[in-house]
Amino acid sequence: MTFLSQTLARVKPSPTMAMTAKAQELRAAGRDVIGLSAGEPDFDTPENIRKAAAAAIDSGKTRYTAVDGIPELKAAICKKFKRDNGLEYEPAQVTVNAGGKHTLYNAFMATLNPGDEVVIPAPYWVSYPDMVRLAGGEPVLVETRLEDAFKLTPEALEAAITEKTKWFIFNSPSNPTGAGYSAAELKALTDVLMRHPHVWVMTDDMYEHLAYDDFKFATPAEVEPALYDRTLTCNGVSKAYAMTGWRIGYAAGPKALIAAMRKVQSQSTSNPCSVSQYAALEALNGPQDYLAAHNEVFVRRRNLVVKMLSEIDGVTCPVPEGAFYVYPSIAGLIGKSTPKGTRIENDEAFATALLEEAEVAVVFGAAFGLSPNFRVSYATSDALLEEACRRIQTFCASLT
Ligand SMILES: Cc1ncc(COP(=O)(O)O)c(C=O)c1O
Repeated sequence: MTFLSQTLARVKPSPTMAMTAKAQELRAAGRDVIGLSAGEPDFDTPENIRKAAAAAIDSGKTRYTAVDGIPELKAAICKKFKRDNGLEYEPAQVTVNAGGKHTLYNAFMATLNPGDEVVIPAPYWVSYPDMVRLAGGEPVLVETRLEDAFKLTPEALEAAITEKTKWFIFNSPSNPTGAGYSAAELKALTDVLMRHPHVWVMTDDMYEHLAYDDFKFATPAEVEPALYDRTLTCNGVSKAYAMTGWRIGYAAGPKALIAAMRKVQSQSTSNPCSVSQYAALEALNGPQDYLAAHNEVFVRRRNLVVKMLSEIDGVTCPVPEGAFYVYPSIAGLIGKSTPKGTRIENDEAFATALLEEAEVAVVFGAAFGLSPNFRVSYATSDALLEEACRRIQTFCASLT
């Protein structure tokens, strides 16, 4: 009998951890590594939000709260869904959790039975498949193509659905590609779902506000109101408000599902941090002008990175609509070797050699389920991005 649970054996350790550990090791040894692997904005949490949190502490808002969120925050979330997405929810349809990751985890724990399938477009955010496995379900991975800008086609969605499908996970703008679906592109997918009434949609709208140029964000229950009763609309303050450490995510959906998620939360974590809930309340109800200010910076950085990476022979870098990632293909570099003799057999070998020989940390595509690619997070300063891209250019040019 093994001591560890059999469920855990179904879960892979995060492949990104090895790269992060390696980068830290090199830094500790005094090497000048530039990290482009972080999934968080480099901005500080805005001052009004920090002040609201300090005021919450000073006024004693430091005790247990209702399990899935204080009423004021639930009301603010209802207001946000109406304001930004045209969706009507009441507080009993809202859950507040310790980060967006926790929201999704509660939903899977509350709904998945052994054998239940969850359709996940690849490349995907690393946690989706393993969270599904932890909850006892089966991830069904559906690859997208660079030629389709990494967007799932209706045909591919249709082909992935079986009678065992419980959820379809939708994420736009996407981590890791930055791809954002227009309302029309999304409608083509929801049309497929309308033909399969047993399939529910979990939409991860975490990057809603990080949308550039003329891209207009859309969410499933908005483009297809008939899906409202089987959609869990997930969001959070982590990325838009530079609040990754505060750990507040939230979702809205049918009352019975929200109650089931509350049950999971009540027997695991209880309420999300009380102080963070007051901070999130200010984030949602306070001024929203820094969203546009942040996006101005992000779009400039995206353009810089796409331009410099596109100049490299063997690299193809689509221009994404949102988030703070690009996901270039390195198909043209596979099989080449570095000056030190390392063969670039796959994207993991590429990322490892890039780190060891050019001192730039990125995440390899296999971690996200679509190769040969790598993910660059451009949530760092323009100067560091420029230097990192220069190093990537020099490294790629040195391959023979
Ligand atoms: C697509 C996506 N969803 C959810 C999350 C989780 O966010 P949080 O930090 O609020 O748990 C992330 C974080 O990287 C993400 O990229």
